[in-house]
Amino acid sequence: MRVLVTGGAGYIGSVTARVLSDRGHEVEILDNFSTGHREAVLPGARLHEGSLLDDIFLAGVFERAFDAVLHFAAFSLIGESVADPERYYHNNVTGSAQLLKAVSGTGVARFIFSSSAAVYGESDTPHLTEASPTAPVNPYGQTKLTMEGLLRTAAETLDMRAVALRYFNACGAMGELGEDHTPETHLIPCLLRSLLEPDASFSIYGDDYPTPDGTCIRDYIHVVDLAEAHVLALEGVDRPGLEILNLGTETGSSVREVIDTTAVVTGLDIDPLVAPRRSGDPSRLVAGSELARERLGWRPGRSDLTTIIGDAWAWHRAHPRGYADKSMGR
Ligand code: UFG
Repeated sequence: MRVLVTGGAGYIGSVTARVLSDRGHEVEILDNFSTGHREAVLPGARLHEGSLLDDIFLAGVFERAFDAVLHFAAFSLIGESVADPERYYHNNVTGSAQLLKAVSGTGVARFIFSSSAAVYGESDTPHLTEASPTAPVNPYGQTKLTMEGLLRTAAETLDMRAVALRYFNACGAMGELGEDHTPETHLIPCLLRSLLEPDASFSIYGDDYPTPDGTCIRDYIHVVDLAEAHVLALEGVDRPGLEILNLGTETGSSVREVIDTTAVVTGLDIDPLVAPRRSGDPSRLVAGSELARERLGWRPGRSDLTTIIGDAWAWHRAHPRGYADKSMGR
């Protein structure tokens, strides 16, 4: 299939573009490089450089015929979304609405959307299923939920087969492709960077949560497993309208467990500070992902903490200052 990957220079988009290409799909990338990295663009892929907010640019992109769109392009930092919700709504929601408008009538039959567990918010259930209530606790999650709503309407109106994949905690790396956000706020890259910078420290945000060791529990899912779910969704989706699937391992790991595994994988001593809780962090988010297994035949095979941290550590050692600096590896 000829597929357009929006946000294909970003973390999950770039890995998915690579896996799609390896599977024989013809991949084209759309990115405005506001948060993406040129080094992450699939070599040889046609690049459409521009913004989803630019309807003239988009109309030009869709002069080419695509079988499918995989839509990753979005701002994705929860803290930023709390500080500037209007910017998040404009970029994520208006951008997606423009994209769906541009897709209309072009023959795009399949649409895979990068959604998030952030649509659920705080919950007492051990495993969040697709039927769990949606109640986002931050504007980022609200934008993802609104985007799902837009997609549902578009899929029904345009007779498109659409899937929204709700990721839990994406992590890990794939060879030359890794995780590099500015600012970096995610647990594993923050922890690994702190080990590579002599004067850096690492803080646990709260150890007084109602969990066995007091630190927050998350469901960490390797970015390659996520990418493979996109390929399966693209190739396997057969129902018109919108399907929603959680992507997680169904296993929770605490912040302390991630730190302990990191110490083993890197062979380094880690002496974390304990800081106050970070606002907006639910104590536990773990996926029920039975539906993705059933509908896609998806089995995450790389999402044990040792593999995730080993792959991420290899990437961070090769890129201690992210994509901008590849010369400082040790
Ligand atoms: N944490 C620390 N110290 C740090 C960074 C993070 O203790 O320096 C803790 C957080 O408080 C949290 C856990 O590590 O308890 C995971 O935090 P991340 O920032 O890595 O991830 P989040 O669970 O906050 O958010 C992630 C994605 C979001 C997505 C959400 C849905 O980043 O995009 O999962 O579950 F929406």
